[in-house]
Amino acid sequence: MILITSDLKLADAIHSNYLLIPVVTRFGVRLGFGDKTVKAVCKEYGVDVEFFTTILNVFSHENYFPQERLLRFDVMQLVSYLKKTHAYYRSVLIPMLEKNMEAFVQSASKPDKQEILLIKNFFEQYKNDLTAHLKREETITFPYITELVKKENTEQLHEKYSMKIFESEHENVDEKLYDLKNILIKYLQGDYDEGVRNTLIFNIFRLEKDLKDHTRIEDKILIPTVKQMEQALFGSNA
Ligand SMILES: [Fe+2]
Ligand SMILES: [Fe+2]
Repeated sequence: MILITSDLKLADAIHSNYLLIPVVTRFGVRLGFGDKTVKAVCKEYGVDVEFFTTILNVFSHENYFPQERLLRFDVMQLVSYLKKTHAYYRSVLIPMLEKNMEAFVQSASKPDKQEILLIKNFFEQYKNDLTAHLKREETITFPYITELVKKENTEQLHEKYSMKIFESEHENVDEKLYDLKNILIKYLQGDYDEGVRNTLIFNIFRLEKDLKDHTRIEDKILIPTVKQMEQALFGSNA
């Protein structure tokens, strides 16, 4: 996968990594940009080009982390991006997996249905955990950051919550997906539609990859950026 710069054609970036399509969509950019460069597309959509290229590179290259550059970004821009990603999980990826799972259950012959229903339950449980994780960030973490940016009631807020707390309880939400894939790849036998099973596995891989990158952005960009703000506001009490 190529390193994405502002002078690269956006179409070439996508040809090098098609998983960037939903990421680009989160910025409001629609496909159909012809041969325009990343810079030109960002200008057209009023998107911060530095932020855009950084996010795309974080998604494409696991070790891409230009720390000094990241800490310069407007934190609200980052929060807005993370919220859009949550919305994408809720409205696109999770419903798609639910549909795949349902089709998988339907495709199984009667004696094998029971086993597949157990897998479906495992997924349902996972879905609840993931939704709770997203909700917690949306109702506690993001509002805390918004208040910090507004510099309102910061002392009281900071007595109850901080990035240190977020960091200590921030879990990897993708781990159970690995177990789910393993069951489907290694252990499940029986009579069911293989095409449906394969689509289900592909889409679990997609969600897993997207979540991993999302968590990396929260851990490696959001936490240090907000910690820096806390340091500036509260000094040694941060
Ligand atoms: Fe998140
Ligand atoms: Fe998270």
